[in-house]
Amino acid sequence: MRGQARLAISVAAALLGLAALPAAAQAKATPESYKQRFAALCAACHGANGRSDMPGTPALAGQHSFYAITQLFLFREGRRGNEAMTAVAKTMSDQDLRGFSEYIGTLPPVPAPPPATPPDAARMARGQALAQEHRCVMCHGSDLSGGQQVARIGQQREDYLQMTLREFKSGKRPGYTQAMGEAVSQIPPEDLDTIAYYVARFPGAPAKPAGK
Ligand code: HEC
Ligand code: HEC
Repeated sequence: MRGQARLAISVAAALLGLAALPAAAQAKATPESYKQRFAALCAACHGANGRSDMPGTPALAGQHSFYAITQLFLFREGRRGNEAMTAVAKTMSDQDLRGFSEYIGTLPPVPAPPPATPPDAARMARGQALAQEHRCVMCHGSDLSGGQQVARIGQQREDYLQMTLREFKSGKRPGYTQAMGEAVSQIPPEDLDTIAYYVARFPGAPAKPAGK
């Protein structure tokens, strides 16, 4: 626990360092260049519009730039584990973390493709009740759109939500802070899956642009 708290503080300090990068150091990084690099390096997995159709790969569309930079930083430092993303992030400069995150922050949310079968009403109701009971909405917002370093989760891919919620619970994904580990620690795995089912099919339109 203590170690994690220290980790969170050192991450925060590093991020503050990034924020303080002198403008001159960023001179060559234009939003246009990161748009092109995203298309070349990231779109194959995450989708050209930021909505991935690859299993286990999160939609980035509508994600907040502060959330994105935090996660890229954690991948780069080996504090969030995933082979593909570690490989992608480990060569990134601080300027790249910033450039990619800012670009991600400009991608408008893309709704999930219509499900093959209509949502199961009873499971949706149970998922909604669990999300209230466990206060997911308190941090992620009643429309699940997140903000700042809290992720947008509404209509995220279900397989990814299932996986990542289980990883927060097991500690495989320690998170930037302990917020998520604490939020899910008392929730049984089958209830986590019901929450993932509901969140992936969240009926509210993902209308708000990232960062707003
Ligand atoms: C080979 C496929 C692949 C490529 C290429 C790739 N990613 Fe990823 N990305 C993933 C996967 C898979 C995850 C989920 C990792 C996990 O938690 O297990 C992920 C996660 C992320 C996340 C965290 C999202 C969240 O909701 O927590 C960000 C941000 C991200 N990628 C940005 C990028 C950027 C920027 C690039 C290009 C420079 C990129 N990715 C290239 C597969 C890829
Ligand atoms: C105290 C605030 C808080 C609460 C309560 C909370 N979250 Fe989170 N959540 C966060 C933060 C902050 C993050 C960013 C993760 C990190 O620390 O790196 C996050 C991340 C996530 C992610 C990862 C998103 C991604 O793209 O990888 C999911 C999924 C998620 N939360 C779902 C939930 C669910 C479901 C609940 C309710 C059971 C919940 N959260 C409760 C603050 C919270």
